[in-house]
Amino acid sequence: MPAHGRGLSSAVIALRELGERTNACRECPIGEHATQSVIGEGPVRARLMVVGEQPGDKEDLEGRPFVGPAGRLFDRAVAELGWSRDKLYVTNAVKHFKYELRGKRRIHKTPAQREADACAHWLESEIEVVQPAAFIALGAVAARSLLGRHVAVMKERGQWLEDAAGRRVLVTLHPSALLRGDPEQKQQAWQAWLDDLSLASGEFSRPAARSSSRAGRAGRKAPAVPHFDPATAGKTRTRRTPTTQGS
Ligand code: URA
Repeated sequence: MPAHGRGLSSAVIALRELGERTNACRECPIGEHATQSVIGEGPVRARLMVVGEQPGDKEDLEGRPFVGPAGRLFDRAVAELGWSRDKLYVTNAVKHFKYELRGKRRIHKTPAQREADACAHWLESEIEVVQPAAFIALGAVAARSLLGRHVAVMKERGQWLEDAAGRRVLVTLHPSALLRGDPEQKQQAWQAWLDDLSLASGEFSRPAARSSSRAGRAGRKAPAVPHFDPATAGKTRTRRTPTTQGS
């Protein structure tokens, strides 16, 4: 198998293992109460990695990121920007759903800093496998996990930031902030969010890293990049909880 092809299949294996290891993770208390961990989904060599906060109710049950109400809003933005979600690797800073029970409803709870910190090495492992050229951080938890410092999202949104290692991160609001926002200002907030996200549009027109691979240089067609789907990656669910509402 060509070197590049071997790299891709080992990336799939590494992500599958990461799914299993995060699923078993009890480094913080959240995992105990979730159905399963949810790691990222997308091409195993995406240029752009989108990082959210944590899976919501629906994501927890389905095992895939951004498939609930916040995900639908994100999908709408992706469509309006003329992007394709298939080209994005979409994941979260925290890999388990944190919630509180109200009756039978599971209500999203923001992860504590120590919980996000405990999860940071899983995100780093994911980044090591996917090797994205740039990141979009949706909200403060993702921004802090990527940049390693507190980020004032409203002040620092809509610009490319860099961490000490030169990691390029575009920070913007989490979609659930738009879902909650003042109805009078929704249109304006939506447009401002699209404006922020559109700064990453250039990433799609840049050649992917693989075009400089040995196969590419030799004029051979590079193998198709596999798409990783965490829901079909074969990990064991830890519990089933009556459903409800997520973020
Ligand atoms: N919110 C997130 O941050 N991530 C998801 O996957 C879903 C909702």
